[in-house]
Amino acid sequence: MEKSKVLVVGGTGYIGKRIVQASLAQGHITYVLQRHEIGLDIDKLQLLLAFKKQGARLVEASFSDHQSLVNAVKQVDVVICTMSGVHFRSHNITMQLKLVDAIKEAGNIKRFLPSEFGMDPARMANALEPGRVTFDEKMVVRKAIEDANIPFTYVSANCFAGYFVPNLSQLGTLLPPKNKVCLYGDGSAKVVYMDEDDIATYTIKSIDDPRTLNKTLYIRPKENILTQMQLIEKWERLSGKKLEKLNISAEDFLASMEGMDYASKVGVGHFYHIFYEGCLTNFEIREDGSVEASQLYPEVDYTRMDSYLNQFL
Ligand SMILES: NC(=O)c1ccc[n+]([C@@H]2O[C@H](COP(=O)([O-])OP(=O)(O)OC[C@H]3O[C@@H](n4cnc5c(N)ncnc54)[C@H](OP(=O)(O)O)[C@@H]3O)[C@@H](O)[C@H]2O)c1
Repeated sequence: MEKSKVLVVGGTGYIGKRIVQASLAQGHITYVLQRHEIGLDIDKLQLLLAFKKQGARLVEASFSDHQSLVNAVKQVDVVICTMSGVHFRSHNITMQLKLVDAIKEAGNIKRFLPSEFGMDPARMANALEPGRVTFDEKMVVRKAIEDANIPFTYVSANCFAGYFVPNLSQLGTLLPPKNKVCLYGDGSAKVVYMDEDDIATYTIKSIDDPRTLNKTLYIRPKENILTQMQLIEKWERLSGKKLEKLNISAEDFLASMEGMDYASKVGVGHFYHIFYEGCLTNFEIREDGSVEASQLYPEVDYTRMDSYLNQFL
């Protein structure tokens, strides 16, 4: 089967750059949107040029110019959007509605993957304020996609390792704790931790796969389903040092939101759903016809979290 041509929108972003790399690595003709709004951001420009060197095609377009988006979309079969969605960086999820309009007008797209890559927003209808904005906005984009009859795959990628693993899932740091670690409740909720490069690999594998058409693709490989306590124990084994555990009750954790800035409140809300409610694993994947990535693509040797943590020794 001929491989689809892919356009990555948001290709210089945190997950986007990995998706560009995975698309090239899996042999897709890969286009990356180049926006003139990047202005003087020399790092973005250099990254775009590095993609070009590796064979990517840069396509100029702007979210302020509908026709330019239509023209970009018309060159490919598949569009993957990795628009920003983390409040402490920037959050522009509903900007994708412009891309949905362009895809609708272009009429040629065989698959659209909107910017998701986290918890499944369809399962977060009862999420707390203000963090629920992430899920609500992703659902607005889903509705627009489905109203326009655009073929889709939604990728639910669970916890990005970079944000959740070396820090043993502590808020406000990306580095391993030295002496003490906060344990959410008794640390027993099952969480799924994923290396971002693996997320990109699975994502690209799904784009030409009829089994993922109009479905949610959950990335939940068995050995990466861990509790926070299991993650801490892995680090303790690797580092040879025991950490003092500070148990935080759900009430105290939620009360900690008081006085925080907006982005931090969003983060606390998301952590609450993940680590106290177990929202990533408290459902069976197949119950609504959804699919799981490591079952569809057993050939992917996904990164285990021991080996991810090893980098931090
Ligand atoms: N599961 C998890 O743990 C987790 C963690 C983080 C993020 N996520 C999800 O992953 C997705 C991507 O997040 P990210 O952190 O990778 O994003 P990011 O790096 O902050 O931004 C991605 C890209 O969004 C584009 N962008 C930002 N502002 C824009 C604007 N005003 N107009 C047009 N484009 C704009 C830029 O694309 P250009 O390349 O064109 O400049 C940027 O590179 C989100 O849906 C987020 O919720 C999940």
